[in-house]
Amino acid sequence: MKVVITGAAGFLGQKLARALVKRGHLIGPSGKDEPIDRLTLFDVVAAAHPGDNRVEVVTGDISDRDLIAKLIDRDTGSVFHLASIVSSGAEEDFDLGYRVNLQGALAVVDACRALPHAPRLVFTSSLATYGGEYNVEVDDGTPQTPQTSYGTQKAIGELLINDYSRKGFLDGRSLKLPTIVVRPGKPNKAASTFASSIIREPLQGQSAICPVAPEVSMALLSPRRTVEAFIHAHDLPAQAWGPWRSCNLPGIDAKISELVAAMGRVAGNDPVKRIEWRPDSAIQKIVATWPGRFGWAKAKRLGFKPDGSVDEIIRNFIEDDLQR
Ligand SMILES: NC(=O)c1ccc[n+]([C@@H]2O[C@H](COP(=O)([O-])OP(=O)(O)OC[C@H]3O[C@@H](n4cnc5c(N)ncnc54)[C@H](O)[C@@H]3O)[C@@H](O)[C@H]2O)c1
Repeated sequence: MKVVITGAAGFLGQKLARALVKRGHLIGPSGKDEPIDRLTLFDVVAAAHPGDNRVEVVTGDISDRDLIAKLIDRDTGSVFHLASIVSSGAEEDFDLGYRVNLQGALAVVDACRALPHAPRLVFTSSLATYGGEYNVEVDDGTPQTPQTSYGTQKAIGELLINDYSRKGFLDGRSLKLPTIVVRPGKPNKAASTFASSIIREPLQGQSAICPVAPEVSMALLSPRRTVEAFIHAHDLPAQAWGPWRSCNLPGIDAKISELVAAMGRVAGNDPVKRIEWRPDSAIQKIVATWPGRFGWAKAKRLGFKPDGSVDEIIRNFIEDDLQR
């Protein structure tokens, strides 16, 4: 079967592509394990080719409905829809955020709907769909009251996927990702990007700025566990999800100070000294709308796995990205 990844040039898209190439099979629309004979990596910029002849790289805009209707064709058994303008990006450019995150999601679900079969669709949502007072505890049943454009666009995406799944047009699964650390490469436009920068840069001998206070708490998941979760979400049977096709992915609730302490335990105190604590009011304002505690009972029931500890998250980054 053909599998499409949108946003395949991004941080998680690249890791998912490598994992699918290595794995070589997924549950198909028949409900049985099927080999992946084509993996299409779609993004507005060209994704790196993993050097496997099952893989094709396609570039284009996710909001181009004609193009997406051709991309998600009759051979497509599954779509992982990751393409997105992330949080601060969607906040800075209102039109771009709505075009990519909302019109793009509509192009994807309508292309799935046009097929004679209902493809599986995994959608990456975010805990930014919750919003309000800082330090509120949220769980899978908490009403979505986003306080950013990005969170609003992701919440609409989840509703679309529920409704299109209810109608049998596709078989959707939305995952609310916590903050994924540690992101390799460079900082991005996500408001949470500092959580990766304060580990990634110091571990490579560079300084980093932390724009929030040490006591700010975030729910954290490593990229390794996130990619495992995408594949697990995909392969679960539709009945396991019930009528509400989304769940919070597991995250370890940790204060920034605990994340930094874990880096100290794993890599010594020198990297810790490379962090400069300099508050940034714009970032603090967005972070203040995130939940304080993040419940994930449904994910636990469905068999998703968190990292064992914050130390393990740091060790995974060193092993998967710095030593690779
Ligand atoms: N990384 C996190 O901490 C996190 C947390 C919550 C949710 N998410 C979600 O997970 C998904 C993947 O996140 P990521 O960290 O890999 O993000 P990323 O920014 O690295 O990747 C997103 C990709 O989308 C592509 N894209 C942007 N506009 C496009 C367009 N018009 N057409 C086609 N492609 C376009 C970008 O080029 C990029 O490669 C996103 O949907 C994001 O919202 C990520």
